[in-house]
Amino acid sequence: MQIKDIYNLAIKMGIESDFRGKAGVQKLLDGKKQRFEKLSEKDKEEFDKDALENPYLDSGVYNISDDKEIKKVLVGIDIGPEEILIAKELGDIDLVIAHHPVGKGLANLADVMHLQADVYNYYGVPINVAEGLMKERISEVARGVNASNHQRTVDAARIMKVNLMNSHTPCDNLAAKFLKDLIEVKKPETVAEIISILKEIPEYKEAMKIGVGPKVFVGSPENRCGRIAMSEITGGTEGSPKLYEKMAQAGIGTSVAMHISEEHKKEAEAAHVNIVIAGHISSDSLGVNLLMDELEKQGIEIVPCSGFTRFSRISK
Ligand SMILES: [Fe+2]
Repeated sequence: MQIKDIYNLAIKMGIESDFRGKAGVQKLLDGKKQRFEKLSEKDKEEFDKDALENPYLDSGVYNISDDKEIKKVLVGIDIGPEEILIAKELGDIDLVIAHHPVGKGLANLADVMHLQADVYNYYGVPINVAEGLMKERISEVARGVNASNHQRTVDAARIMKVNLMNSHTPCDNLAAKFLKDLIEVKKPETVAEIISILKEIPEYKEAMKIGVGPKVFVGSPENRCGRIAMSEITGGTEGSPKLYEKMAQAGIGTSVAMHISEEHKKEAEAAHVNIVIAGHISSDSLGVNLLMDELEKQGIEIVPCSGFTRFSRISK
């Protein structure tokens, strides 16, 4: 596999596990194409052409110094110049794969958040309400990431001649789908039962060793969970705090999330929505592992770093 093959595989797997379904994602890309066609020549020049093919603009390839066959990858949750130096020091790393976005992917993080409106709609929140509340939050996130030093890691990779890409929402989609399928099979009745199910997953087991295993942040273990939503695993970053009230009205009893801010926690409490925090880096690791399994099947060696806990689900 070459870098472009790995990137294409990530996007393909992300689409296959997307809450909107393949057809939903295609519709989104078609809509972007239609808008692009209507633009003036000058506006077309400024338009990010990647957006016509890639529904996850928080993921991409940032540096190709040597477009070779990839045999060994350094994979981490957050990749900074430090990890680029580690790759260089190790000497035999063909490609560095980040989870969290860097460069243009970071600048475009807010774009993938539109996905959340569809996820909330999937769980019964009217689409007009979900879109309205997300719109506010998306612009807030877009402004928030605007001030970052986006190219820091990309520049380090370019100078050190290290190949660099990332896969954020495709991997988060994989984690969300994995957890959704598992919860649907196990049918937990209480919040404690959700926690027990999560604790059986190797990535969370590993996180428990350092004190960041699955936890109840809102509600109590003996609470009945009601309808469980995987609404806070994928879609860039936290959605709108105003959504909890709407989730409760839509019949959601419990939300499984990667992480939650204090403001969101207060709103969830007020709406009586139980919040189970699966764990941030552990959930990120789960999604990345599901992609890495496909790379391993192709004979690629994976070196984990920067919080990524590698666990292979390939039966050997
Ligand atoms: Fe994350």
